[in-house]
Amino acid sequence: MKKAKTAFLKRFGEIRDLPSLPSIVTKVNEMLNDPNTTNDSLSRVIEKDQAIVFKMLQLVNSAFFGLREKISATNEAAIILGFDAIRNIVVSLSTFNVLNHLFEHKTCDHFKVDRFWRHSIGVAVLSRYLADQARVGDPEKCFVCGLLHDMGKLMLAYYFPDDFIRVVEKARKENLIYLEAEKKTLPVCHSEVGYFIIKKWGIPPHLANTIYSHHAIQPGATFFDESVIVNVADGIINSYYPDFLNNNTSPGNLKYAYFDPHARKRLNVWIESVPKWMPQVDPLIRDAWTFFL
Ligand SMILES: [Fe+2]
Ligand SMILES: [Fe+2]
Repeated sequence: MKKAKTAFLKRFGEIRDLPSLPSIVTKVNEMLNDPNTTNDSLSRVIEKDQAIVFKMLQLVNSAFFGLREKISATNEAAIILGFDAIRNIVVSLSTFNVLNHLFEHKTCDHFKVDRFWRHSIGVAVLSRYLADQARVGDPEKCFVCGLLHDMGKLMLAYYFPDDFIRVVEKARKENLIYLEAEKKTLPVCHSEVGYFIIKKWGIPPHLANTIYSHHAIQPGATFFDESVIVNVADGIINSYYPDFLNNNTSPGNLKYAYFDPHARKRLNVWIESVPKWMPQVDPLIRDAWTFFL
């Protein structure tokens, strides 16, 4: 099994046209590792990319962030939200653009890219909300991890459509959730594919590790909290909205197959009380869909 896994991932390593991230992401990451970085120097770098600045200000001023005052400049955003939050926003917006662009000129019957993003955005918003309310993990980190948690599926669908189609067909035929069908069909999980790509991009470890463990949580791991949050948010979003395969037949009924046992243990109170608090999150999710899509 390990051999098959290595061989499968090797195919990804051999892809020549893997998308690359804009240089702003690498630069911002470098700057945040440098203790001499100031608010002004960070803002100057981000402001070289006006499209990102525009989107970032739109995002931080949306209802979703719930700030009382309007932010009109990058350095103001950095003061109010902190460097780390700014980094996470820049990574979210840039990777979203790059990954979304992949499917711009490609029509795929087997992969509905809008459905994929609706799911990912839902998980991002709910992850941020849960982290904030339950005080588990960092809300901004959880947002970006939620947004990118399933990027391995997107990569599979794009680069290895035949393998992806086999998983989707198995899920449909045997009425399985995607993850179960994937386990029965491929030697790797989409979480491992996502991890592989994100490591290649040199993105911060909290992202790579959370993506890696969002379906197999390891107690004691450094990013345990973020993984728990993303796993729970993923299970709830899959239960409340049409799932990735659009086969949600009973919205609102929690499907426990989606939750990792460690995540359930940690956040059971929140899982059991979803109907009470979900109505507050739903408008935020719809808002984020309009923002991103
Ligand atoms: Fe997943
Ligand atoms: Fe997911």
